[in-house]
Amino acid sequence: MWHSSLSEEDTIKHSADKPLLQVTDLSKTYVRSRWPFGAKVHVKALDSVSFTLEAGSSIAFVGESGSGKSTLGMCISRLLEADSGKVLMNGTDLFSLSGTSLREVRSKLQLVFQDAATSFNPTFTAGQVICEPMVIRAIGSRAEQQQRAIDLMERVGLPVDSISRSPMQFSGGQRQRLAIARALAADAEVIILDEALSGLDMSVQADIANLLLTVQAERRLALIYISHDMELAGYLADEIAVMSEGRIVERGLSSRLLQRPEHPQTQALINAMLSFESQT
Ligand SMILES: Nc1ncnc2c1ncn2[C@@H]1O[C@H](COP(=O)(O)OP(=O)(O)OP(=O)(O)O)[C@@H](O)[C@H]1O
Ligand SMILES: [Mg+2]
Repeated sequence: MWHSSLSEEDTIKHSADKPLLQVTDLSKTYVRSRWPFGAKVHVKALDSVSFTLEAGSSIAFVGESGSGKSTLGMCISRLLEADSGKVLMNGTDLFSLSGTSLREVRSKLQLVFQDAATSFNPTFTAGQVICEPMVIRAIGSRAEQQQRAIDLMERVGLPVDSISRSPMQFSGGQRQRLAIARALAADAEVIILDEALSGLDMSVQADIANLLLTVQAERRLALIYISHDMELAGYLADEIAVMSEGRIVERGLSSRLLQRPEHPQTQALINAMLSFESQT
């Protein structure tokens, strides 16, 4: 019987403090009607997923398509309501919040998607995209917000003279950088990146990966990567959790898991990675 508990070798040193993020028994079933007769189909997308994450650390969720990775990210951030389970952030129960207190906590937990531009207001300039979280939370004067936007553009490697341009004129990699700048402007403590580096050129992917590793260390950010790319997951994340049919089937330190996978699903993902590499 395979289980997802950590072996001794996989144990990360946890501080005595409460974890930054504590996810317990998160479950979600989608119900959809089967066309054309309307019979209900139940899809168990998440099945009792639990994990903890400390400030400054990272975990990658990898797994085949449909294994529940995006559902997990959306349930944690409450873009989608879970059926059951708990998410504590700094000890606060996210599912018990509403209104201003939910918005406040949620700003600390930012999501970046594969094409981040879909989450930008299409009428905004790059500067407005970065300033948005500060405007919503009334942080600083207009001039201070502008200055912070300039600093953040520099930080993520965007040309500052493009501050008044529409992100629609940016390259794919530049848009992802802009989304990271916006998350930093929101003072995010946790960033969930759902395939945020997929579809980019290898060199752009590597540059943004290194940017993420640097800001993670600088700000003690906690990062949750959602990816189908085992190699990238291993490069970016301290730990990897392999998902299959809504469950974590194996979890461990990235180095151990890549070198000595235990679950057949993990082995299959590694084999797919190796066969892709031998073709390229
Ligand atoms: N809105 C929805 N309604 C019904 N079923 C859904 C919905 N969204 C996802 N599902 C189903 O839930 C399961 C998990 O989907 P999810 O998108 O979380 O997987 P994923 O691991 O992110 O896949 P991918 O790697 O393709 O992005 C799949 O079987 C999917 O078909
Ligand atoms: Mg997905």
